[in-house]
Amino acid sequence: MSDRPVVLSGIQPSGALHLGNYLGALRPWVLGQEEFRNFFCIVDLHALTQPQEPARLREQTRQLVALYLACGIDPERSTVFLQSHVAEHAELGWILTCLTPMGWLERMTQFKERARGQSAERVGTGVFVYPALMAADILLYQAAYVPVGEDQRQHLELTRDLAQRFNTRFGETFVVPQARIGQTGAGSRVMALDDPTVKMSKSATTEAGCVLLLDPPGTIRRKIMRAQTDSGAAVRAQEAQAGVANLLEIYRATTGAGLAEVAARFDGQGYGALKRAVAEAVIAALDPIQARYRQLMADEAALDRVLARGAAAARGVAATTLARVRDRVGLLPPDAGPGA
Ligand code: TRP
Repeated sequence: MSDRPVVLSGIQPSGALHLGNYLGALRPWVLGQEEFRNFFCIVDLHALTQPQEPARLREQTRQLVALYLACGIDPERSTVFLQSHVAEHAELGWILTCLTPMGWLERMTQFKERARGQSAERVGTGVFVYPALMAADILLYQAAYVPVGEDQRQHLELTRDLAQRFNTRFGETFVVPQARIGQTGAGSRVMALDDPTVKMSKSATTEAGCVLLLDPPGTIRRKIMRAQTDSGAAVRAQEAQAGVANLLEIYRATTGAGLAEVAARFDGQGYGALKRAVAEAVIAALDPIQARYRQLMADEAALDRVLARGAAAARGVAATTLARVRDRVGLLPPDAGPGA
């Protein structure tokens, strides 16, 4: 094992990735591949907390793998795998579920939002115990850092609490992970185009507010040209309000230009000119990703090989942690061991 700090993160294969996922998560992950020992998980078991059409789940899972790779995650350097391929996640998830007080789970904002207004006869229990499985994802790899969005802060706190509770009760076993929320340096926070006061997200915003990574150029242009701007008439980068600030940030993040350069280029220009430039910058940034994605999707067997290798590597680490956990809590080992 290398001595680089371990990073683990995950995305659910439920819904298409958008520009916010790329600039805020995937690209920073890609840039951290030298510095960290990375585990990038596709959390398909988490996707099952909501009803999924099986064929569609399979399709979206493969698409997400291809997008990870197309965005620059290199399976030679980072471990890319499906959560469901490493059974240790489900097993540690159960052990941690049993250690999690219901009160902790009842306080989770995401649970409250998902369950609100729905009959208890209809919401699956997975929505409730979800954070214990997420804790297992992280703790199995002894991750030091978990890059996630602000919306996952509470789940990360619960993961830390669980790690500490386990360590206190059964002896030092888990590294207590730290959340990295928008701290990756290269990461940027992209807001919805149609409502720049909320983060661009697959669930919270409409289709129009969200540039999908696989949107064709015409769609990208149309969405950006309709983006909400400010009440003024011309760009003034220093005083930009949410709408224009978001467009300037997208331009900066997709072109790599500095803040001063962006201000110099757009100050005094109309919003139409800004939007045209942003649209072209986004199209240019996504074009190579889309091309690579199409190549990757054309060879399913190769994608499956990446996943098989990733799962084997992940299992090697996860099994070591789980064996220790099983022993600590008093479960007998499944094999009689040497000398039996
Ligand atoms: N809960 C995360 C989300 O909805 C996804 C997730 C599951 C995750 N397991 C994780 C993220 C482990 C980081 C680490 O976005």
